[in-house]
Amino acid sequence: MRHFSPPIRRRALLGGAGALAGLAVAPGLAQAAALPGLHVAAAAKGRFYGAALHPDTLAHDPQAMAHVPIECGMLGSQLAFKWAPLQPEPNRFDWKQADQLLAYARTQHMPVRGHTLVWYQANPDWLVKGLTKANAARILTQHIQTVVGHFRGQLVQWDVVNEALWPADGQPYGLRDSLWLRTLGPGYIDLAFHLCAAADPSALRCLNDYGFDAGREAPRKRDAMLTLLSSLLSRGVPVQAVGMQGHLDPGAGPIDQKALAAFCAAIAAMGLKIVITEMDVRDNSLPAAIIPRDAGVAAYGRAYLDVVLESQATLGVLTWGLSDRLTWLDWQIPRADHLPQRPLPLDTEMRRKPLWYAMREAFLAAKMHI
Ligand code: XIL
Repeated sequence: MRHFSPPIRRRALLGGAGALAGLAVAPGLAQAAALPGLHVAAAAKGRFYGAALHPDTLAHDPQAMAHVPIECGMLGSQLAFKWAPLQPEPNRFDWKQADQLLAYARTQHMPVRGHTLVWYQANPDWLVKGLTKANAARILTQHIQTVVGHFRGQLVQWDVVNEALWPADGQPYGLRDSLWLRTLGPGYIDLAFHLCAAADPSALRCLNDYGFDAGREAPRKRDAMLTLLSSLLSRGVPVQAVGMQGHLDPGAGPIDQKALAAFCAAIAAMGLKIVITEMDVRDNSLPAAIIPRDAGVAAYGRAYLDVVLESQATLGVLTWGLSDRLTWLDWQIPRADHLPQRPLPLDTEMRRKPLWYAMREAFLAAKMHI
């Protein structure tokens, strides 16, 4: 199946050397010539590595984009497949951003994953204001059929439903009190997965969420996810994988390695796969000085990857961006001292950071995935 075989591209195997010919070499590119990219390390163990790009990087930052084919074996988009850009007005679909990513990915022979069909955020105003119990099933059906149908055969995975869980809301199964739950009840998840399966049977269907790795809420979140998955499977809902976002926060305390391993094992025992879909390590609880900050980010990322890559169910890892040049954390979860965060494998000069080396080592240390 498409999503199980990470492509190894020849140019990247050569350490990106082909991409460098004739360039006055920037520091990041010189490093990239010395060791092959992260996706090569991942592929050595049968996994993929890639990044979800911000559309601005793709459109306006050729220097950053030069590193994408070196490091990545899969791409996602931080915005392009969300509801607001895709269906800004009722029945008007706009494929521009998504098509730009797909056109680029085709030139690099890179598979692309879609994020996301159903979420409580990134919805256009018309949807938020106009959704009712009477029209919700029709609107959801039309969106998924149109969007998944449009991209049929072009995407290897879909985050069908994103962030459905928030146990503190007190709803059945720990579900989040969202516009979808209010209008359709828990069955909105069933509906979305069935529609996605019918519109593009070959894209791996993921239930994507966060908060399984550390912190006070994690035990409840893990329990809620396992309960939800078994109830979906018992009803024949065609969920195939758990997307674990992997937005990591050292401020939440150490990774619950034992509990996380048990969680992965429980998912695997249900016959489901795992994809790490949005990894980054926020550093707003770490010191300002760069050396200890980068070391803290790298160690935390490694503690996480060592656990999730131990599982045979884990197919691969995407980070939420590739370099610190552009990270959502700077506008959504800024540091108190307002220094830019350093959550990703490459720095703002596109040089490989301790997190990059930690990720490489985690991939190389992982068991072979078969
Ligand atoms: C974020 C984007 O990166 C931001 O640009 C946007 O303002 C908000 O959404 N979990 C998810 C992603 O599933 O879709 C979110 O992306 C980050 C958290």
